[in-house]
Amino acid sequence: MAEQEGIALVDLDENGVDRAFRADVLDGLSAKQKAIPARWLYDDAGSDLFEDITQIPEYYPTRAETEILTDRRSEFAAKIAPGCAVVEFGSGSSVKTPLLLKAIAPAAYVPLDISGGFLREAAQDLAAKFPGLPVYPVEADFMRTVDLPAEVAATPKLGFFPGSTIGNMVPRTAVDLLRSMRETLGEGAQLLIGMDLVKGRDILEAAYDDAAGVTAEFNLNLARRINRELDGDIPTEKLRHIARWNDDFARIEMHLEANEAIAFSVAGQEFSMRSGETIHTENSHKFTRRSSKLLLEAGGWTPQKRWLDSGKRFSLLLAEATEPRKAP
Ligand code: AVJ
Repeated sequence: MAEQEGIALVDLDENGVDRAFRADVLDGLSAKQKAIPARWLYDDAGSDLFEDITQIPEYYPTRAETEILTDRRSEFAAKIAPGCAVVEFGSGSSVKTPLLLKAIAPAAYVPLDISGGFLREAAQDLAAKFPGLPVYPVEADFMRTVDLPAEVAATPKLGFFPGSTIGNMVPRTAVDLLRSMRETLGEGAQLLIGMDLVKGRDILEAAYDDAAGVTAEFNLNLARRINRELDGDIPTEKLRHIARWNDDFARIEMHLEANEAIAFSVAGQEFSMRSGETIHTENSHKFTRRSSKLLLEAGGWTPQKRWLDSGKRFSLLLAEATEPRKAP
């Protein structure tokens, strides 16, 4: 297994530059609407900043989902196949995963992550908290179908995808992911997935533009990362963080907006931005009861149960792999 051999999935050039990062940034900065895929927000500094975001008063999703996982544990035990293998897409958050594992007493825990470092940390953490629970970490890009360890081949699977991370994807990518999850987990599998809910613009915009400026730092870190890793000279002090609700697409968008006209270079290429021009850095789609179920159905998952927190801000859905069928 790649993880044991320590082979990283990142492809570095002779100068230690992540080729995929450079390609995405150069492409993204060359587009008419500049845009960089949100996954690049999560280097070590970005991941730490996101951890801080989960603690700020305006950012409710983590608290709301944790409340559901805490309050509904007896219902999970009743609805989820006993003795299943929990397959987490993205290595476990220190708080949410133990809540689920405690509720359902699974046969094994299989965290999937593209970053070997985060993966090993999470696996060790979980193994220490649950002595006797087999943990099989897999270093993989879960946007594609993953071969699960042979040890869980015969075990029923529960996919776990908390945090409303699915909301970072545009619908067609989200559907691709749900379908590949179904492929990975196999027939008869279940999926427990967090989806944040549509709500008032003020609440949403505040959650992504907190008074303490932590989310602004998180967003600006992407520009700093470009400067650090891609030999850039973006004048980050002339960029500002924007979080705005796009009602047509039911999503919060994060942008970096130029306060004045600027010019800079990245990896030897020249770019410029007009005053007010933005780099689109993240989408966070929000869902309704209907849109969340439609998305699951489109991805090959039949919704079984939907739970909300007491403030009705966040939803956690349980679904089962839809059986192949030919008629409508
Ligand atoms: C980790 C993707 C769920 O979209 O709410 C938080 C990321 N971005 N604040 C989200 C994020 C800005 C977060 N997810």
